[in-house]
Amino acid sequence: MQIQQNISLKPFNTFGIDVSANHFVSVSTIEELKQILSLKEYPNKLILGGGSNMLLTKNFEGLVIHVNLKGIEIVSEHTDCVFVKAYAGENWHEFVLWCINNDFGGIENLSLIPGNVGTTPIQNIGAYGVEIKDTFESCNAISLENIHIETFKKEDCQFDYRNSIFKNEAKGKYIVTSVTFKLTKQNHQLHINYGTIASQLEAMKITAPSIQDISKAVIAIRESKLPNPKVIGNSGSFFKNPVVPKTLYTNLLQNFEDMPSYPVSDTEVKIPAGWLIEKAGFKGKRFGDYGVHKNQALVLVNYGDAKGSDILNLSILIQDTIKRLFNIYIEAEVNIL
Ligand code: EPU
Repeated sequence: MQIQQNISLKPFNTFGIDVSANHFVSVSTIEELKQILSLKEYPNKLILGGGSNMLLTKNFEGLVIHVNLKGIEIVSEHTDCVFVKAYAGENWHEFVLWCINNDFGGIENLSLIPGNVGTTPIQNIGAYGVEIKDTFESCNAISLENIHIETFKKEDCQFDYRNSIFKNEAKGKYIVTSVTFKLTKQNHQLHINYGTIASQLEAMKITAPSIQDISKAVIAIRESKLPNPKVIGNSGSFFKNPVVPKTLYTNLLQNFEDMPSYPVSDTEVKIPAGWLIEKAGFKGKRFGDYGVHKNQALVLVNYGDAKGSDILNLSILIQDTIKRLFNIYIEAEVNIL
């Protein structure tokens, strides 16, 4: 373990923004992590996992800790289910494929989501009708305050749509070191009713899908809609889908009769932010090296050397326009630093 000086963070964030950190260290064991956290000379720390949910807008004056803890372990195995622990630095999609290869079901709909295992509980990642909370058993996280490892059970995490305790009262106070999932070994619960999964399976001529088939269908859908961060820098959905009062939605329907919505409660609905952004004319708009993706308006992209502040300003322009046109505020999903 070596602390390096003036390191570019470009390879460590999926937006591919070229800012630098004064100090940088990559840790691959819990002991190293504890050692680094006990150093008094770096009060300002930034924790980096897969860098898939952040927009870096300026150089970081402090110590970046790259969490590179690796390993996948079967904690216990039963007739129907298995508990699998993955360390925070494991690439999420590779972990999903490992589970699928072992015929462990539950996270196949979450195939191809960029980022590492350690960040999945923070924003309760979700796609195609499944969220991490559905298979999450517990996670271990190290307290930055006393450098002890604590276990968070599912009920401790306050999971909600793209939200958890780690984005609220525990924000900035812990580093997730591992996550344990409860997965099925048989009688897999398949989720094929969301969006275009069923039609994708049909196109693939699959009538009795396995978890492998669902993963393949999800990969095909994602590849057709979402830019690969290795090719075009991006952070997935930049905004959350807003939840709005039904009364506002009903009023808006008078002017926008094709506005889609998903039920949330008796009084609220969720509106796809991608639809609002497309309707506002931003889909596919390019401003030099940055813009809005052509196939999915929720995704802001860096075509080359965009600055984080360019993308941040574009996101504010989009938010202001949506507010003006629809009286709806769309909240950023990514962390802005
Ligand atoms: N839509 C448009 N134009 C667009 C994009 C979407 O009109 O450019 C409308 C369409 O009506 C479409 C609907 O939005 O039917 C839903 O689109 P999609 O199924 O692509 O899902 P989403 O709501 O845009 C969410 C997640 C994605 C996740 C997909 C699939 C959020 C913020 N995003 O997007 O998550 O992959 O559902 O489950 O909830 C991510 O978090 O990084 C991410 C990509």
